Amino acid sequence: MRKSSIFFLICFLLQYFCSSNSESFVGVNYGIVADNLPPPDATAKLLKSTSIEKVRLYGADPAIIKALANSGIGIVIGAANGDIPAMASDPNFAGQWVNSNVMAYYPASKIIVVSVGNEVVTSGDQNLLSNLLPAMRNVQNALNSASLGGKIKVSTVHSMAVLGQSEPPSAGAFNSSFGDTLKALLQFQSENSSPFMINPYPFFAYQSDPRPETLAFCLFQPNAGRVDSRTGIKYMNMFDAQVDAVHSALSAMGFKDVEIVVAETGWPYKGDPNEVGPSLDNAKNYNGNLINYLRSKVGTPLMPGKSVDTYIFALYDENLKPGPGSERSFGLFRSDLSMIYDAGLSKSAQTPASTPLTPAPTASAATLTPSPTPVMPSPKTPTTTPAILAPTTPSTPLTPGILPPGSEIRGTATSCEPLHSLLLIIVTIIAFTLVEVHRE
Ligand SMILES: *[C@@H]1O[C@H](CO)[C@@H](O)[C@H](O)[C@H]1NC(C)=O
Repeated sequence: MRKSSIFFLICFLLQYFCSSNSESFVGVNYGIVADNLPPPDATAKLLKSTSIEKVRLYGADPAIIKALANSGIGIVIGAANGDIPAMASDPNFAGQWVNSNVMAYYPASKIIVVSVGNEVVTSGDQNLLSNLLPAMRNVQNALNSASLGGKIKVSTVHSMAVLGQSEPPSAGAFNSSFGDTLKALLQFQSENSSPFMINPYPFFAYQSDPRPETLAFCLFQPNAGRVDSRTGIKYMNMFDAQVDAVHSALSAMGFKDVEIVVAETGWPYKGDPNEVGPSLDNAKNYNGNLINYLRSKVGTPLMPGKSVDTYIFALYDENLKPGPGSERSFGLFRSDLSMIYDAGLSKSAQTPASTPLTPAPTASAATLTPSPTPVMPSPKTPTTTPAILAPTTPSTPLTPGILPPGSEIRGTATSCEPLHSLLLIIVTIIAFTLVEVHRE
């Protein structure tokens, strides 16, 4: 083997190890509260044409699960809240559910998570609440019996209203009313390496504090930033602030190693005339900049160097949803499969044509004005309960931090997973040893 071929082999491996898995944290929510959706096969084809690698279903619709077979797309399926009591009281029911909704399609259809219920903890339904963990246990046991424990995770999705405090991010804490429930859930999730799934929506934070600087902070645009007075960390966007508040809440409960997954986040491209925030530009900027930001793998200030798995809400508009117009206008694609706006999800164009990212967060001496507004859950609809980061008053003028053209953070070819880096080093050592042996 000539030295040059080893060199090319190394280059190839470097490329391979460092670019694989680069987009795996971008997913999309596929809700079906609509009467005008394209057929599942068309949706599967659409997803395959994008860089989206995971899809979250609210239920376990067989047609879409089947349509996604052999696509390599990871699938989160949901057990309905209404199934929770039976799942909790009857292990056979849970076993049947796993048989017909998971075993029937796996592994051709790459089911990765079963979400038991949606926003149960904040639903106020005590019966559901007390049955949630037993139901999750029974589903876990059924998966274990099928030798799928560890391969398919059992989780549940929360609204941000599980937090009693979210500001500043380092002081994030769960609402003590849910303390015991969440502690037991997290103990189970920690033992089973299951992710904590939650729905942060900077959109709702902006709706409750509709100032231009808040909009820029929410849309990942140049802004003065907001300093966490306890840590001195300056946050440059609302998404990081909300996710770090969740991280702090988990840490405070002793579960800082439980992975956070953003099960929903998004921005509506239109709404009712009296709604502040929805617009095509804002939606494109939020989702486009968020996707770019996730690809950069900058991470959040408290969880640097990796991206939180994030499911954008939503693949399509759901025209039968109740509530204000914005609730029916979170879609990325029309039912004719055309893009509503370009969020940078097509396979070829990896960088959306949207406003440049602000630079990575830095510490700063300036301090935030103490927050007058607590976390405020909105009762609107089951899937989109907001949490609000209290409005703050940046005293410094906006300092635009626009990156020079061509320097958008992509992060697809430059950052390696630690394991991959290790493999690469080993391969390099073996290659050079071979060269040396060959010479002697
Ligand atoms: C905590 O949850 C309870 C019950 O849902 C609610 O009444 C209370 O307002 C919440 N507290 C905070 C600080 O969000």
